[in-house]
Amino acid sequence: MGRTDILVTGAGGQLGRAVLHCCAELGLQAHGVGTLSMPLDDRAAVLRAIRELAPRAIVHGGAVTNVDGCESESLAAYRINGLGTAWVAEAAAAVGAALAYVSTDFVFDGTAQGVPYATEHPVRPLSVYGASKRLGEEAVLAHGRGDFYVVRTSWVFGPGGKNFPKAILDRARSGQPLKVVTDQVGRPTMTHDLAAALLDLLQLRPAGGGIYHAANEGHASWHQFAVGVLQAAGLGHIEVGSQLAADLKRPAPRPQWSVLDTDRLTRVRGKPLPSWQDAVRRYLELDAVAQPGRGGKQY
Ligand SMILES: NC(=O)c1ccc[n+]([C@@H]2O[C@H](COP(=O)([O-])OP(=O)(O)OC[C@H]3O[C@@H](n4cnc5c(N)ncnc54)[C@H](OP(=O)(O)O)[C@@H]3O)[C@@H](O)[C@H]2O)c1
Repeated sequence: MGRTDILVTGAGGQLGRAVLHCCAELGLQAHGVGTLSMPLDDRAAVLRAIRELAPRAIVHGGAVTNVDGCESESLAAYRINGLGTAWVAEAAAAVGAALAYVSTDFVFDGTAQGVPYATEHPVRPLSVYGASKRLGEEAVLAHGRGDFYVVRTSWVFGPGGKNFPKAILDRARSGQPLKVVTDQVGRPTMTHDLAAALLDLLQLRPAGGGIYHAANEGHASWHQFAVGVLQAAGLGHIEVGSQLAADLKRPAPRPQWSVLDTDRLTRVRGKPLPSWQDAVRRYLELDAVAQPGRGGKQY
């Protein structure tokens, strides 16, 4: 068997599926793994799988992503997101694979109101999830390898995934009232666009490795995001009520402002990711699941 080009962790997740799709489009030989085939909480299993596959590069998106659940399951979060990532990095170094570790805007505390977060801005996670992902970042960066990248992204949505646009559309179509948070602002990001950026980064291999931010252009509050999704879906007449994040009383605090500065990635690729509004339009076209019976394109 020829050497695997790209190993994709979290392959069954919304980002992992998009990365595999992009690899197929680019003619790359990709191999996806998940909880059963490469459990991230098992060091021996991680080292064995990566040694056997000996990929040229790894997109590591596998993670516990239930932000509120991580508050009560903190040991699992630190083990899978933190230690699991350390083991992926250890194995990647051992086989000489480049690594793109997908991290999160939740490493920031959200107090930089109005100023997009630069890659070098000091981190201060507010939640267990954010802290566990930061642990993973530190493990990747500790190798100091020129082909290891931490790629932070935010507010991810994609076809077939459990995500915000789908939740909004499901509620709107079933006639339930909508009330959405106005005081958290970030950058919605579509899986396809993020996948393309991750694969570009691994192809271009900018010298020095380090941290990159990848998100669709523009920013929005959750409320503005919801209104944009409904308008794009032809449901702009549906009223979207407002509420504050504190009203939700969620276990995990979120940053109020988590707009990522993506300039570093834009310089490397020579182009930004498309706008989030454009991404929403393509998402609606692609997502047969979000639009049952509406003839969405097969993904
Ligand atoms: N969603 C967002 O808004 C967002 C924002 C910023 C950053 N991110 C980051 O982006 C990445 C992808 O997110 P996503 O939205 O695609 O997540 P997702 O849909 O929840 O997928 C995560 C995947 O991780 C895998 N996984 C979970 N626990 C595992 C374990 N113990 N061992 C091996 N695999 C395990 C799961 O595999 P199985 O299906 O096999 O169980 C799942 O497919 C994550 O690293 C996340 O932290 C996400």
